[in-house]
Amino acid sequence: MTQALTLNRPELQRTQNFINARWCEALDGRRLPVSDPATDTVFTEVPDSGAADARAAVDAAHAALPAWRATPARQRAQLLKRWHALIIEHQQDLGRLISREQGKPLAEGLGEVLYAASYVEWFAEEATRICGDVIAPPVAGRRMLVLKEPVGVVAAITPWNFPAAMIARKIAPALAAGCTVVAKPAEDTPLTALALVALAEQAGLPAGVLNIVSASRERTPEVADVWLADARVRKITFTGSTPVGKHLARESAATLKKLSLELGGNAPFIVFDDADLDAAVAGLMVAKFRNGGQTCVCPNRVFVQAAVHDAFVEKLAARVGALKLGPASAPDSQIGPMINARAVDKIARHVADAVQRGGRVVVGGQRSALGPNYYAPTVLIGADAAMACSCEETFGPVVPITRFETEAEVLAAANDTPFGLAGYFYSRDVARIWRVAEALETGIVGINEGALAAEAAPFGGVKESGYGREGSRHGLDDYLQMKYLCQGGL
Ligand code: SIN
Repeated sequence: MTQALTLNRPELQRTQNFINARWCEALDGRRLPVSDPATDTVFTEVPDSGAADARAAVDAAHAALPAWRATPARQRAQLLKRWHALIIEHQQDLGRLISREQGKPLAEGLGEVLYAASYVEWFAEEATRICGDVIAPPVAGRRMLVLKEPVGVVAAITPWNFPAAMIARKIAPALAAGCTVVAKPAEDTPLTALALVALAEQAGLPAGVLNIVSASRERTPEVADVWLADARVRKITFTGSTPVGKHLARESAATLKKLSLELGGNAPFIVFDDADLDAAVAGLMVAKFRNGGQTCVCPNRVFVQAAVHDAFVEKLAARVGALKLGPASAPDSQIGPMINARAVDKIARHVADAVQRGGRVVVGGQRSALGPNYYAPTVLIGADAAMACSCEETFGPVVPITRFETEAEVLAAANDTPFGLAGYFYSRDVARIWRVAEALETGIVGINEGALAAEAAPFGGVKESGYGREGSRHGLDDYLQMKYLCQGGL
């Protein structure tokens, strides 16, 4: 049984779309059930929007664009700062919403609220630092300048694993840059996004500047197709799977939209024999088990050098075996349920495949009696490149370990993937640190560190993990375009 969701401000549990400053149902009245992954039971409903709602959202965002882009940067920044303050003020409620619809333990839900807020604050500050160029003209009688202008209407499509952080780090830079937004949160986790939009409304965002529609997995393509085809939408920002990212890239080509794609990963985590093993174990625990392993940057393949392999596995197994699995509502839970039964099926398939191909489970390796969405934290050894867990993102609490002998061998293996989001390694050899950091084909590298995400850092991948960066000063550029002015006859 799902307990009632108690919020300090119950009206933050919004269950309608927000278009042109109006909370509304889907135009055809369809509804989408929202479940608690801990109990697998429906606890509320939101609109199941379709093409007409998606179009109405673009109409509103397009109409609001001229005034918003003309709003002075400092004023946009002040609105974002007010939004930031409201997010912090409602950390408890937002954390509860995240944990309820996504399943992560409450401490992590509360932490995610601060993480999301950090992007809003960062881009509020960056809004006032948008600068163009004044160029020395190569010929007399001219002046040459570059302006940075907002790209226009932005469509943001976000995933379920970080219901607050992913939408915040898309919407905040868009608004800071002077763009208006249409957004669609993941079908599993619409409530956090709707609550964030309610707080943005309270902060005083003008009508039409931020619009949001929720939709089921089945109807999401209908919404996305409208946004892809509409030439008024000038940018799509998406976090999710590589196949969907490729689809968006293909379909947006007709109107040549700007794209930011934060797609799948297959992160290597390498432990060299000169590493501090305790630090490496601690780093892996943080990187792998955050959000139950449901992050794009979490280590998917762990490589341990032969001389330290057994000692590392022993230390790691002790830590993983002690992890407490449980619902978000239990204060001692360290790993919550997976998002849904499909996710657990994939994890179980990966573990079964690894075992069938010669891998050995050291800890875990089974579903949990807690319910259909739980899977026990797992360590398995003897992993190799042919296993599904090495080629696909497991997106769950499974650590497959491969023993290696040489640096050259492990670098070849680490880079032998179409993906390139994050990579991690542990070593105390300074020369090796530079060699390996430069050789890894990823957009993000953790060196003796498992917790990488920060609003001040550029988050994003290379290869088939996508392009564009979120966070940092570069994160704003993704929402700006250059206009070159050349004045002659002077
Ligand atoms: C992601 O999983 O896509 C984001 C993770 C993060 O922000 O660290």
